[in-house]
Parts: sequence; structure tokens; C-alpha cells
Amino acid sequence: MAPAYQDDSQGGQSRILPAGAVKLRVVERGRGMPIVLVHGFPLDHSMWNAQIAALGERWHVIAPDLRGFGTSQVIAGTATMDAMADDLAALLDALAIDEPVVVVGLSMGGYVAFQFWRKYVERLRGLVLCDTRAAADTPEAAQARHALVERLLDEGMQVVVGAMLPKLLAPATLAGHSEAVEALRETMLANPAEGSAAALRGMAQRPDMTAELPKISLPTLVIVGQEDAISTVDEMRGIAKAIPESEFVVIPRCGHMTPMEHPLAFNEAIEQFLTRVERGGAAI
Ligand code: MLT
Repeated sequence: MAPAYQDDSQGGQSRILPAGAVKLRVVERGRGMPIVLVHGFPLDHSMWNAQIAALGERWHVIAPDLRGFGTSQVIAGTATMDAMADDLAALLDALAIDEPVVVVGLSMGGYVAFQFWRKYVERLRGLVLCDTRAAADTPEAAQARHALVERLLDEGMQVVVGAMLPKLLAPATLAGHSEAVEALRETMLANPAEGSAAALRGMAQRPDMTAELPKISLPTLVIVGQEDAISTVDEMRGIAKAIPESEFVVIPRCGHMTPMEHPLAFNEAIEQFLTRVERGGAAI
């Protein structure tokens, strides 16, 4: 028997479903074209709350917690971006969605979106790449991730909060002690340490997708915060230039967490894009 639905704070419905090798928490809202929202590290579906509320008015929004995050199952070891893409495909099967979807991925969610494109392109109608990177980790960056794994397994998620939070938000957002800061801190602290460790190991070994970008022949929206310190405007402009059917939008006064820091501007950009995709229109 399917697990009972629970109400979710964004007016959606939340449940845990078996998806291939894992059990995933998924929040759904609305009907119509399926839009899959894939969160960043070390967060969960709640980073998309403003999008679940707004996009769920017009489309079928599907916002999972990736393996090891939120209340999804933790699989210790290494959570590759490839395995997380497999999880998403299995989740769509579990939801009986066989029409093509739009995948929206932020940062680590973007790494997963790239692997979903590589393996399941026939299941895609469009891509939204938010504040993410096509390049692989440098050896030094991969080494730093492994060092963070050691510390976080020793000292807990507070270590990750200290390492990540200052980099995720624009200085003005951080200084304003906005709701976004507290929401992010709470989400990070609630995540299981083993799940974040597995994802850090997976990100450290993710493939370089730079040479693949010109082969992405789908309508694609590339969005970045003007003050993103992790995936910079210049780097993301390069991604947009390399993808033939892409649009590029810079959201002002935002760091890495554009959907949370400036949800109105973010939602406007994505709604315009999704409307064009739904009508079968090409990118501008
Ligand atoms: C994220 O926001 O998902 C992370 O910044 C990704 C990363 O650490 O590369």
C-alpha cells in the first residue's frame, strides 16, 4: 500500500517513496507539466519552498530530498551524482510520470541534473541550471572535501555550517540576518552527517561536463546570483554560451542561493522560461 500523504507547509503533499535503491522524501504540488526541483548541498527540498508555492499554482512540482538529505534514506559510502540521477529516474517511475520533465538543479542539484541529462535525456523537456558548475573539482578542491568529511564525521554538521553558510549568501543577506540565514542553518544542522559525507565524496569525484555542454540540445535556462562566490557570474556565463539553446539570467543582490535570497526575481525568470517550454517555444 502506498504510504499516506502528509500535508506540507507549502500547500503541497509529502511522502516517502521507494525509488530504486533508496527511499526518498518527496513533496509534490499542483498539476500539469512536471518540474523536478533538485536541491543543493547540504540542504533539502525546503530550499525550494518559495518555488513549490509559486510554480505549484501552474505546474506539477516535484521536490525530493536527495539520498542522505532531509528525511530521505542515508546510504553510507559515496553518493555519486550519477547514483542520485538514477534515484530521480526511479522516483519518476514510482510517481508514474512518463512524460518528459523539466529538471531544475541548484549547485549540487545542477551536478545531478547534468548526469540526468547524460543518462536520461529522453525523459527531459528542459533544464534549469542554477548557481552550478560544469567543471570537475581540482585535486585541491577534492582534497578539501575529503578533509571536511573527516571533520564532519568527528564533530558533526556544525562544521559544515561553518564552512558553507558564509559562502552561500550575499553579504547583505548574511548581515540582514534574514529568514534565509536561519532556514539554511536549521536545514544543515538537521541533515545526517553520514549523508553529507557521502555527497561530499561523490562531488569530489564528479566528472567534468565542460566538453559536453555544446551537446545539450534542450531549452536551457542558466541562472546565477550576481554575487555568487561559489559559481561566479563569469563561469555561469561561460556555461550559457556553450549550450546552444540557452538563456542567461543574472539575479541582482544575491549570492549562491538565488531561489531563497530573491524568490520573486528568481520565480519571474523561471516562470517565463517554463511558459515558453510548455508552449514548445525555443529559447530566446
Ligand atoms: C552546493 O551549493 O550544492 C555546493 O556549493 C556544491 C559544491 O560544494 O560544489
